[in-house]
Amino acid sequence: MQVISVSNQKGGCGKTTLAVNVSAALAMLGNETLLIDLDPQANATFAMGFSQEASERKTFYDVFRTHFSAEDTQFDEIVIKERKKFSFIPSNMMLSAAEINLGSVDGAATILSRTLSHPYFERYKYVVIDSPPSFGFLTLNSMYAANVILVPLDLSHFSFNGINGVYRVRSLLNRETGRNPLVFFVLNSYDRRSRYSRKVEQNAESKLGSYLLPTRVRSSVRLREAVGKGKTIFEYAKKSSAALDVFNLTCELLASEKKKTNTIMQEFLFHAPEAGAVYVLGDFNDWQKSDAGRMTRLESGHWSGHVTLKKGKYRYKFLVDDEWIHDPDNTKVESNTFGTHDSILKI
Ligand SMILES: Nc1ncnc2c1ncn2[C@@H]1O[C@H](COP(=O)(O)OP(=O)(O)OP(=O)(O)O)[C@@H](O)[C@H]1O
Ligand SMILES: [Mg+2]
Repeated sequence: MQVISVSNQKGGCGKTTLAVNVSAALAMLGNETLLIDLDPQANATFAMGFSQEASERKTFYDVFRTHFSAEDTQFDEIVIKERKKFSFIPSNMMLSAAEINLGSVDGAATILSRTLSHPYFERYKYVVIDSPPSFGFLTLNSMYAANVILVPLDLSHFSFNGINGVYRVRSLLNRETGRNPLVFFVLNSYDRRSRYSRKVEQNAESKLGSYLLPTRVRSSVRLREAVGKGKTIFEYAKKSSAALDVFNLTCELLASEKKKTNTIMQEFLFHAPEAGAVYVLGDFNDWQKSDAGRMTRLESGHWSGHVTLKKGKYRYKFLVDDEWIHDPDNTKVESNTFGTHDSILKI
């Protein structure tokens, strides 16, 4: 079973749209697929054609609710199987209660992952999770269960802030649990005719390298309309450009997931609350100041930067307001031709 978590703390970047329609494409390709709506807003539930008020349906809240009780969870009562090869677990506002009641319980972040290891779910080849726009208990569950994290980026600056958030949560998961899911990004609501779209695209390409999937999901009114009708794009407008983009995206996601990648996305951190601009520069970016090496300031006063690297040995330094500083958190250093030290990273 492959678990794809669609996550980005930025609201409105296309998580639900892509979670619903990528799931539909996976099912169309002949894979038994389960979509889980893990967002209390229940947008995926509406997009799948269910209104929470009108139904007495059980939701993923019931899985959380029964998890710590002696009650057996009756998955058959929760999973909706109305589409061919495409099952669905809905959500409603009660999921917020799960966050409040269980968020601080030991092992709470692993409930979804443990649930999916139940024999009931062996029938599914793919599980896709629509996450809420925050990095709380529900998104942690989603990312913890994932083999692949798909991060939609719309064209706003804030969407790119979400990139750092995803990597920070993944680093945390890795430290706490040893899990290291693949992360792929996709540009959504792309408009080829707009100069701004192309500028954002170049920025994303230089920042994310091969982790940015080649398909651009174009801005399409059909995608918006399909949600309103409670249909997938393949049910609503299967010959539209949006259907084509989502289908291509799904195929790329499947291909990338299989590719054994020998590159990793390395995170660099530097604490400098007072600094105005920090870059991570090294032999991997020819020591040249560019967008690819520009770090982002976090609320903690740290600066965070991500660089795509192949296996190998690298020299690097931070350029902090035009002053070169080696990484104080890395004890591996070597002297350089300027008579100072470079930090050394081996992957
Ligand atoms: N490629 C697209 N073209 C046109 N409209 C789109 C596209 N992708 C998403 N939208 C629309 O943008 C809005 C936000 O999308 P969506 O609900 O998928 O984002 P989200 O990340 O799930 O939001 P939230 O963070 O609130 O869960 C919706 O109205 C959706 O129909
Ligand atoms: Mg959503």
